[in-house]
Amino acid sequence: MPFQDFRQFLDVLRQHGELIDINRPVALNDVGKAMKQAYIRNGPAIMFNNNGTDYPLVAGLYSTREKALLAFEADEDTIFDKVLHGLDNPIAPIFAANGAPCQEEIIEGEAIDIRNFPVPQYSPKDGGPYITAGIVVSHDPETGVPDVGHYRFLILGKDTFSFSAQPFHRFGKNLAKCKKLGIVPKAALIIGVDPIIAYTCQVQVPDTTDDWALAGGLRGAPVELTQCKTCDVKVPATSEVVIEFEVDLNTTVLEGPLGEYTGYYTRPSQKPVARITAITHRKQPIFQGLLTGKPVTETISSSKFRSKRRSCVRSSASFRPSSRSRCARPPACRSTW
Ligand SMILES: Cc1cc2nc3c(=O)[nH]c(=O)nc-3n(C[C@H](O)[C@H](O)[C@H](O)COP(=O)(O)O)c2cc1C
Repeated sequence: MPFQDFRQFLDVLRQHGELIDINRPVALNDVGKAMKQAYIRNGPAIMFNNNGTDYPLVAGLYSTREKALLAFEADEDTIFDKVLHGLDNPIAPIFAANGAPCQEEIIEGEAIDIRNFPVPQYSPKDGGPYITAGIVVSHDPETGVPDVGHYRFLILGKDTFSFSAQPFHRFGKNLAKCKKLGIVPKAALIIGVDPIIAYTCQVQVPDTTDDWALAGGLRGAPVELTQCKTCDVKVPATSEVVIEFEVDLNTTVLEGPLGEYTGYYTRPSQKPVARITAITHRKQPIFQGLLTGKPVTETISSSKFRSKRRSCVRSSASFRPSSRSRCARPPACRSTW
């Protein structure tokens, strides 16, 4: 029985001693340091309950192979067959009627303020607070095929952020197509989902693949989707937080630097501005963080997932981040967490 939502996975991590709560105050900008210490020790995920915002922040969910096996409800003997069977047997998503949990609270218009959510600055020289554990849901504007992928977002203001989508990743390709067709790109950033959806993001598949069907296969049950409020995108009904946005391809800002998984900062560069059109969330949502920086961090732990049994995943690119972004390497830029 796959996890129905993020919270069920957190419960299982807690039961296995793989998630601890910190109730004393921890400033958002100290979260990166705490996570680094947890990663070094192969330690548990951490829930920062007292982070200066109204919402808890949990980070480190994908940091070890043990947690990945819990996510897949598998062990070393069963993971090989489970992943291959899932990849071979996609299951189409289903659609939820009205009243999806992710829309228990709806924030629109002037009330939108992304800064109310716990978004840390992870490394000292980052360009600002970054949403690092968000998953973008976008559509190919020509074929309508949905894609899900991890993309980082730099908070600029109450309802604006910027991001970096490599042109060879599907969200980047969808943006390029929109630009050619003269369409304003609309998408959603989802935070706090069934972990199999997060692992599905890393599977490299043809652009014609419906990622929801892929996630369904790996879960062994369909993903239940619901319609966004301000864009024609469907998102998992039980997501903790959904940030709906549109991209202004004509306005750019300096995005970066960001301490990356290589251990170096990527240089700031001009990137599009995205405007948040709605934020919807569950009651008492749990926000998710993810430290990216000097290895070992979560960004590379999905490659750890396949390290013990290299043959367990059909494609060598599966279950690992594939970004080929170039990184700046001046000595002054080495101090990521
Ligand atoms: C935590 C995390 C953050 C990532 N951030 C970015 C990003 O900001 N930009 C990007 O182009 N790729 C990023 N990647 C890599 C892509 O998410 C990954 O290659 C994915 O397979 C792309 O999927 P897609 O081509 O289906 O959209 C990230 C990966 C991880 C694990």
